[in-house]
Amino acid sequence: MKSTLQNKGWIEFQDINSEKQLIEICENFGKIIPHPNGNLIDILTPKESKDAKSLSFSKNFGLNKFPFHTDTAFLNNPVKYMALFSEETNDCPTLLLNFSSVLDNLDETYKKDIFKAIYGVQTPNNNFLSLLYKPFQSEFIIRYDECCMKPLNKSAKRIDVVLKKIFIDLTPIEINWTKGKLVIVDNWKFLHSRNAVNSSINRKLKRIYIN
Ligand SMILES: [Fe+2]
Repeated sequence: MKSTLQNKGWIEFQDINSEKQLIEICENFGKIIPHPNGNLIDILTPKESKDAKSLSFSKNFGLNKFPFHTDTAFLNNPVKYMALFSEETNDCPTLLLNFSSVLDNLDETYKKDIFKAIYGVQTPNNNFLSLLYKPFQSEFIIRYDECCMKPLNKSAKRIDVVLKKIFIDLTPIEINWTKGKLVIVDNWKFLHSRNAVNSSINRKLKRIYIN
């Protein structure tokens, strides 16, 4: 299982029917860490902007499509794995985009920009500079979240425009939510998003971070 996640960048499980089972599977991949809001299991439901917590994607985008992003881009190192679990079937898929496929679609100049792009990361408690694509141990971490990151240097300003276009052009992997499905995604390799949702939809995902 671990090698599948390491090689493919995401893994799917079916028929999970208890929180105990959910936690046990997640613990196979590392240590479960709380979201900065303190929750070990965060509940995600679509919200209109007026009902959402400040600085959340729902605050910025409401029920509209979310842009592709890294989760916890505001941390010094974003979390390695993000687990999403759905107790019930819903018809709003999560979309995954392998950052290596983004790199494959860039010419050499833009590829250089990827490695040189510096963003300012802004949170209520912390402001810092970060590379968009940061070498870490034996791999790279992609960090991208337009809600808390602003392009600062020339490379970042140039590549930011290109990335937004590529995110529209590329076909993402669709995770269709069925009852009891768990998906664990490498948050250092994949960006994710969600399509626009109808306000009547019953979409509830549980999210767990793993390092
Ligand atoms: Fe997210």
